[in-house]
Amino acid sequence: MEQTIKVDLSKIDNIIDRYHGNKEALLMIMQDISDIYSHVPPTVIPILVDRLGVKISMVYSVATFYKTISLEPRGKYIVSVCTGTACHVRGAEKIADALQQKLGIQEGQTTSDRLFTLKAVRCIGCCASGPVITVNKETYGGLDRTAAEKVIENYKQMPLNGTA
Ligand code: FES
Repeated sequence: MEQTIKVDLSKIDNIIDRYHGNKEALLMIMQDISDIYSHVPPTVIPILVDRLGVKISMVYSVATFYKTISLEPRGKYIVSVCTGTACHVRGAEKIADALQQKLGIQEGQTTSDRLFTLKAVRCIGCCASGPVITVNKETYGGLDRTAAEKVIENYKQMPLNGTA
């Protein structure tokens, strides 16, 4: 989903300065930028290349390798549906379907209000509670369609500056 993000370049400069323009700090710099914008906006990539002296391929490698970093805008709440074997057997597909309908997006997409991003993930180690989803760092297990929809509804009703 294409969305325009206004980037404050002085903030980017400040982050790079904090790490003294050290290319070894590329991961931390990209993480700090993600903390502000929920992703590393594409307009920032040439700045990283220029100021850190890294190759553009290195920026893409970091974004691909580390799950906490994305080049695509993501929602305030990352909803991850476990599709591991145990959760699959216990109905993960129905949960994924319910969440897609509730949010009006497909797996991998972000809602237009940038509140939710929906992802499929492998086993998160809570198999006995399956089917399981996480919303940011919170885990919800033993879900059916209604319970999964209710989780989303609760987050929708949180104040925008509320925590998950
Ligand atoms: S398979 Fe879902 S938590 Fe393990």
